[in-house]
Amino acid sequence: MTKNPFQIGVPVTGPELADRQTELETIFKEVLAGSRLFLISPRRYGKTSLLLESRNRLQAQNIPVAYVDLYQATSLAHFLDLFGRAVLEAAEGAVEKALRMAGEFLRGVRPTMTVSARGLPEWSIGFSQQQPDLLKQRDQILALPQMLAEGRKIRLAIFMDEFQEIRALDGPALERAMRASFQHQPRVSYVFAGSKESLMWEMVQSRWSPFFRSGPTLSVGLIPPEEFKKYLSEKFLKSGMSVKPERLDEILAGSDNIPFNVQYLCHALWIVKNGEGNVSSEDIRSGIEYIFAAEREYYTALWDQLSLHQRRTVRALAKSGGAAPFTAAFLREHDLGPSASVARSLAQLLKREVLNKSETEYRFADPFFKAWILSTMP
Ligand SMILES: Nc1ncnc2c1ncn2[C@@H]1O[C@H](COP(=O)(O)OP(=O)(O)OP(=O)(O)O)[C@@H](O)[C@H]1O
Ligand SMILES: [Mg+2]
Repeated sequence: MTKNPFQIGVPVTGPELADRQTELETIFKEVLAGSRLFLISPRRYGKTSLLLESRNRLQAQNIPVAYVDLYQATSLAHFLDLFGRAVLEAAEGAVEKALRMAGEFLRGVRPTMTVSARGLPEWSIGFSQQQPDLLKQRDQILALPQMLAEGRKIRLAIFMDEFQEIRALDGPALERAMRASFQHQPRVSYVFAGSKESLMWEMVQSRWSPFFRSGPTLSVGLIPPEEFKKYLSEKFLKSGMSVKPERLDEILAGSDNIPFNVQYLCHALWIVKNGEGNVSSEDIRSGIEYIFAAEREYYTALWDQLSLHQRRTVRALAKSGGAAPFTAAFLREHDLGPSASVARSLAQLLKREVLNKSETEYRFADPFFKAWILSTMP
């Protein structure tokens, strides 16, 4: 039996990536131009995939790229270590050289090489945990990219994924220090990607934020349905299955066209069909059931965490399809009480990432959760 061709939960690159030509081109051009580009989208739309594909394409043109995922950083010292190592490795090309450069350029650190539990070589820069020293080291590390790029007369790109998390690390201090340092780095291009949309927009649009209007923004939206359908249909065909265009429309509709959810449903379809045959509407329903079973514990735990009022609010939204018809009749019908309570519940649901908010309406971050609510709590 062939392998399930629909990948979920890992970033996709190369032939696994559907469409995104415009976005890739924009990232490429902005990096060449030396910009600070802000890449913003809801979760699971494919930001990390875009960053990794862009990194491959830039590296093919001899532009080194350092990739840092801020979700990995658990403290300021840890972030500096991740950032410093990524930058040194990208600019120097090899761990041994990176290690030597760290010892040479950074004062007050103790770079060390260790062997991981899996027997792989690992190294760390070895920051001090003492506040005044750490802040000095922070400024050295932030200035490092330009210094290395200047030394080698190259352009260097730095991608920071889940960038909004810097606010959790050191309040506004780190953000201010970054802005101060990065604006004197003509050889270094930055792409800041983030999924907490309101925080990311605030970082670029609020005049009180250090990164206020410091670069262009790129909102990553959905993949155009026709492009996505072409990609999916080829994948089904190549793996020995087939699917009619009308069924692909049903798949996209059931997944709200969100890239992760579309792939998840196709992944599930491939499993329930044992990788064979023609996809029917009945199969699509079985695919959704398969996902409900796989996610049952997670969905139940999520539902348990919601207050009764939040549950009534999400259920009402699931029924109405996400538009916000908060009329008096609607509030009465769903027993939602005064609109101030609804506003409180909506704010909590956004914070818990159950919902996203676009300009005009609330959307379920996970359309399968919406379907699960409708099927379990009719
Ligand atoms: N261009 C694409 N073509 C095909 N599938 C895609 C594409 N972009 C995203 N996906 C699907 O979505 C999943 C999530 O992609 P990715 O991790 O890049 O998104 P993300 O926005 O970084 O998500 P998160 O918010 O969880 O970090 C992938 O595993 C893949 O199934
Ligand atoms: Mg990601």
